[in-house]
Amino acid sequence: MAFNLFKTIQSGGTLGLDIGTSSIKIVELEKKGGRFHLTNYAIFELRNNEPSISQSSNWQSILKMPDEEIADGIKQLIKKAEIGSTDIISAIPSFSTFATVIEMPYVSNEDLARSIQFEAKKYVPIPLEEVILDWSIVGVVDGQVSKGGSPSTVEVFLAAVPKDETVRYQNIMKNSGLKLKALELENSALIRALLGNDLSPTVIVNIGGRSTSIIIVNRGYERVSHNYEIGGFEITKAIAQSLNVSLEKAEELKRKFGLKKTEENIINESMISLIDMMVFETKRTILNYEELKKEKIANVILIGGLTNMPGLGDYFKEKMGRSVVIGNPFSRIVYPNELQPIIPELSSMLAGAIGLAMREV
Ligand SMILES: Nc1ncnc2c1ncn2[C@@H]1O[C@H](COP(=O)(O)OP(=O)(O)OP(=O)(O)O)[C@@H](O)[C@H]1O
Ligand SMILES: [Mg+2]
Repeated sequence: MAFNLFKTIQSGGTLGLDIGTSSIKIVELEKKGGRFHLTNYAIFELRNNEPSISQSSNWQSILKMPDEEIADGIKQLIKKAEIGSTDIISAIPSFSTFATVIEMPYVSNEDLARSIQFEAKKYVPIPLEEVILDWSIVGVVDGQVSKGGSPSTVEVFLAAVPKDETVRYQNIMKNSGLKLKALELENSALIRALLGNDLSPTVIVNIGGRSTSIIIVNRGYERVSHNYEIGGFEITKAIAQSLNVSLEKAEELKRKFGLKKTEENIINESMISLIDMMVFETKRTILNYEELKKEKIANVILIGGLTNMPGLGDYFKEKMGRSVVIGNPFSRIVYPNELQPIIPELSSMLAGAIGLAMREV
């Protein structure tokens, strides 16, 4: 089990909690003079092959652990980091939620509320009785304004979260002794942390432990997202199998060599097809969107733990033939100088938690 944390004496900010499949991250931000200041962070990583937080079992994914064990891990993390605040904002993982932007004719808010229930059925892949549906008007379709001056077609951001997931998160927070102030979509937190007020069409590729999500964002809202169950762990596994070494050794090699083009790099071959698949899926998602919406994606942002792997960013850039940047959520917050050397590593893992702590409740 691996803990990585930073603490300061003063503590009274808002906590952002990101429970991923392979790590739990907590960030505390305090708003002073209009800017967010980092006061604490703590990361708990579930390493391959290692016992879970309570050391009673060997889970493959944090989210598959029983709620009590997750809560126990969060409590330990908060204790170790000596975090005093209890107000928390957490996220439902991208693969459990659904969000998009749809165009709807506009007459009145009441009318829209009624028609969205019908419209949502066409988009949301799970029965509506099982989800909490949330929507808001986020834009007016260009040039479509009625004679009375009100828009005739609007853009509506539509989000659906399974009810049982919501109940589960509420439970985990209660058992952790925390006050859940808001529960939001993981992707919305990432967008807040990585894009801020940047409205240009962007794709965010979040490569985590057990999953990857490709999220198309335009004018600040998620338009399309695509999840699949391949992440850093699959890559470690591929290295372990091809070199016939333990998962632990493979993880070490992955972090040390990654895709670096050197003579001594013997792991390159074993993972290249998985990385190529990530590139392929990203390209396909972008092309589909560009064709459908007749809009060019301006930026590709990589985020998630795997982004730390040496050579990954360059490989993506080369294969995508577009500008690719590694996301940096720390560019919008103030943090202690002593953290500077590890900011690249932290930023790829903490983006979600930072975005959550930045949310105004
Ligand atoms: N320096 C590094 N080099 C290579 N891989 C790394 C490095 N640091 C972390 N990783 C990988 O990142 C992955 C974890 O990323 P992250 O913390 O974003 O996942 P998560 O949020 O728990 O998962 P998910 O988003 O799938 O739920 C692991 O597979 C880990 O091996
Ligand atoms: Mg994650």
